[in-house]
Amino acid sequence: MFGKKDKAPEASAATTAGAGSTGLSGDTKIKDWLAHPQGGPILRKMLAEAGQDASQLKPVQGFAMKRLIPMSKGQFSEEKIAELVAMAEAYDPATAGEEPAAAAPAAEEQPEDEAFDLPEFEEKVTDGRFVGKTLIITGAGSGIGRATASRVAREGGRVIAVDLNEAGLDEFIAEHPGLDIVKVVANITKQEDVDAVVAAAGDVIDGLANIAGIMDNMTPLHEVTDEMWDKVIAVNTTGLFKLSRAVIPFMLERHAGSIVNITSEAGLRGSAAGLAYTASKHAVVGITKSSAFMYGPQGIRVNAVAPGPVITGIGASFDSPMAAKRIQTAMAVLPTPVGPESLAASISFLLSDDGHNLNGVILPSDGGWSAV
Ligand SMILES: NC(=O)c1ccc[n+]([C@@H]2O[C@H](COP(=O)([O-])OP(=O)(O)OC[C@H]3O[C@@H](n4cnc5c(N)ncnc54)[C@H](O)[C@@H]3O)[C@@H](O)[C@H]2O)c1
Repeated sequence: MFGKKDKAPEASAATTAGAGSTGLSGDTKIKDWLAHPQGGPILRKMLAEAGQDASQLKPVQGFAMKRLIPMSKGQFSEEKIAELVAMAEAYDPATAGEEPAAAAPAAEEQPEDEAFDLPEFEEKVTDGRFVGKTLIITGAGSGIGRATASRVAREGGRVIAVDLNEAGLDEFIAEHPGLDIVKVVANITKQEDVDAVVAAAGDVIDGLANIAGIMDNMTPLHEVTDEMWDKVIAVNTTGLFKLSRAVIPFMLERHAGSIVNITSEAGLRGSAAGLAYTASKHAVVGITKSSAFMYGPQGIRVNAVAPGPVITGIGASFDSPMAAKRIQTAMAVLPTPVGPESLAASISFLLSDDGHNLNGVILPSDGGWSAV
C-alpha cells in the first residue's frame, strides 16, 4: 500500500548532512519541511513538477524525509534529498519573487496531529525468545514478512525465509550476518514449492507466519476480472492454505505449534479494499478460526493479525472510479501508517510462547482503526 522496506535506511551523509542555515535534512519530518519558510516552497515545487501536491504526503507527514526513499521505489533518492536541502539553503523568497505567505502550508495541508508530536515506535528485542525454534516465515523478502523474519532471527530463532523475490531475500540475509536464516525462493501457490519449503525446515516446525500477500486493484464485484480474482485468491488464500496444510502434520506429531496468518482490515469489513482482496482476507479469518477450533486441543494455536496501513512494498491501484469514491470516504479515518516493525511486534508476540493462551484470535494491529 505504502512502498517501504522493513526499516528506514541507515542515515547517510546525504540524508543527515546539509543541516546548514535552514536546519533541514533527511532526518527532518515531512510536516516540518512543509512548514519551513524555505523548505516548504521548494518541496511543493518538486511535488508540483511531479503532478502531485502536499496533501498526498499527509499519511506520512510524521516521518523523516529519508523514509520516502524506500517508499518511492526508486523515484526518490538520497541525492534528491541533498538537492532539496541545497535548494532550500539557496532559496530566498524575496529574490525569488515569492510572496512570503506562499511559503505557509495551505489550510488543507495543515497536519491534524500537529499538537501531538508522537515518537516513532522503537523495537525492543526480547533476547532468546525463539532460541531452539524453527519458524517458517513467508513474504520475508519485503515489508511485514521481512520485519517479522528479522525480529524472530534476532531473538534467536532459526528462520526459513520464504519469498518469490530472491533479491529481497538476499538483501534481508545480508543485513543479518551470523543469524540462522535459510533462504527458500518459492511461490506459495505451487505445491512443489510448498514441499520444498517444508523440506528446508526439517522435521521440527515450531511456527509458521503466513505473511506473503498481494493487493487487488480496488474494484467492486461487477468489475472484477477472472484474472484478478484468480491471482489474489491464489496467493492470499490458496497459498496460505497449501502451506498450512503441509506444515500442520508436523505440528500434530509433536502436539505443539503456533501459526499466525495475516489478514487485513479488509478481512474485518467491506470498506478497506476491492472485492477480491476483501474476499481473500475474510477467507483467512475463516481458515484461522476453523483451524484454531480444530487443533486447539492438540496444542496447536492458530491466530491472525489484521494490519491497518503499513509502509511496505505492497502496491494497489484504484482502477474503479466508483469504488475509489466509496473507499476513500471510509479512508477519512485512516490512522497514521506505521513501519513494518510495528506489525512484527504483534506477529512475533502471537508466534511466541508469550501468546500461549491465545487461540483463534483475530488481532487488529491498526492503531485503533477497527474501533471506528
Ligand atoms: N501494507 C499494508 O498496509 C497491509 C495492510 C493490511 C494487510 N497487509 C498484508 O500484509 C502482508 C504483507 O504485505 P506487505 O505490505 O508487507 O507487502 P510487500 O509487498 O512488502 O511484501 C509481500 C511479500 O510477499 C511476497 N509474495 C507475493 N506473492 C508471493 C507468492 N506467491 N509466493 C511467495 N511470496 C510471495 C512478495 O514477493 C513480497 O516480498 C500481505 O498479506 C498483505 O495483504 C498489508
